[in-house]
Amino acid sequence: MTMAHGLPHQDSVGYESIRAWLGDRCGISYPDHKANLLRQRLARVTHTYALRDLNELAGAITKGDRQDVELAVMHAASTNHTFFFREPEVLDVFAENILPQLAGRDEIRIWSAAASTGDEAYTIAMLVAEKLGPAALRKLSILGTDISAPVVESAEKAVFSDRALSQMDVAMRSRYMTPAGEGMFQVNEPLRKTCTFRRLNLKATPYPFAKQFQVVFCRNILYYFEPEDQAATLRAIYDATEPGGFLVTSVTEAVRDLCDAWIPVTTGIYRRG
Ligand SMILES: C[S@@+](CC[C@H](N)C(=O)[O-])C[C@H]1O[C@@H](n2cnc3c(N)ncnc32)[C@H](O)[C@@H]1O
Repeated sequence: MTMAHGLPHQDSVGYESIRAWLGDRCGISYPDHKANLLRQRLARVTHTYALRDLNELAGAITKGDRQDVELAVMHAASTNHTFFFREPEVLDVFAENILPQLAGRDEIRIWSAAASTGDEAYTIAMLVAEKLGPAALRKLSILGTDISAPVVESAEKAVFSDRALSQMDVAMRSRYMTPAGEGMFQVNEPLRKTCTFRRLNLKATPYPFAKQFQVVFCRNILYYFEPEDQAATLRAIYDATEPGGFLVTSVTEAVRDLCDAWIPVTTGIYRRG
């Protein structure tokens, strides 16, 4: 139970029911020590929809007829922080060891499974252009998915602030992006054309893909999930990856303890047998 000044909040029942709903529906877990963060995030939703408090908000999302409010709660509860060229050590392995193995393929299919605003997907497109040459973009398709509708919309626009680009080489930025005014840059069309963005809840397994991917990026998301959801997600990603294909995670994620089907290759990189 969340407490204010040692007393229970008036809307503790609503808070707990939203917290449980986030776990069940999205796999997102908020431990007690993050209660204030979740409360601040939910306060924005109650304000936007002119709801009295978290009890009323909980009522709206659990009834099942307010998809707009449900989407707003999912968006508010998720941490969308991301940026270009995040965790370069795993990206180097992807570019130097994995991409050359895909060079001869007619189609290169890559999934950015918690894509947020698309920074990761466009970073992947840039690495393909750099490593395999711009012609390889014609056979590249990158799918970026996220549970949050506003970040999917933002990813489609492909416009980023220089803050999101601070880890990126300036020469690379001028090769693949065009200034869009006020410190913003847009990804150039040949790269944009390789990326498609959709809403997808990673908890809704199995995933609805007609074709398997050769590489799946699933970074900086699993640690928001309960362990059983982490394991189920890793298993479903395994099924969505072609035999011999790769999973790229963030260096902090303990895939091996959660799903032993994945064969460890090196830090943050796993292979489907
Ligand atoms: C911290 S961002 C990670 C972005 C990128 N992969 C990276 O490493 O920079 C995590 C993203 O996961 C999304 N997310 C949270 N729960 C999700 C779920 N159940 N299904 C799909 N995406 C989810 C959030 O909306 C957020 O955009």
